[in-house]
Amino acid sequence: MMTGKLDGVKWVDIKSIPTENAGRLQFFESRNDIDFDIKRIYYITDVPKGTWRGAHAHKELKQLLFCPYGSVTLKLTDGTNVEEFVLDKPNKGIVISKPTWRDMLWNVDNSVLCVAASDYYDVDDYIRDYEKFEIFVGVKKND
Ligand code: TYD
Repeated sequence: MMTGKLDGVKWVDIKSIPTENAGRLQFFESRNDIDFDIKRIYYITDVPKGTWRGAHAHKELKQLLFCPYGSVTLKLTDGTNVEEFVLDKPNKGIVISKPTWRDMLWNVDNSVLCVAASDYYDVDDYIRDYEKFEIFVGVKKND
């Protein structure tokens, strides 16, 4: 494993504007701000600091991940290179558009991890075995 750039992963600046009385408003739109249509939103709450989640990849699904409250580290790999991203601001997002194995660490109690996804929930789109992921992306032979 080497530290290096991942092809199908990129930062997205989510639009963020100060609002009249107080606070800020963040928003994004399919196609205008991210290059896929959103069919599903889900978010993970109530996770204590120090928890690792994830340990899977998706075959087809594209996702925008963002953390409007708290801090979550994404450790991502395409099977060859590893890259880490810290989601710790409401206006920072990561788009994953190619099969990418993810491990995610909660840095702050109750951080909220939100995902805007390109498709409905499909259990068959998950790869939960790292060796199967390596075979799927072609870095390992199926023998
Ligand atoms: P899962 O993706 O297995 O979560 P994790 O691996 O992060 O613990 O999802 C947990 C459960 O939630 C599983 O029974 C499927 C269900 N689920 C949905 O029904 N729809 C969804 O969009 C997601 C993400 C999960």
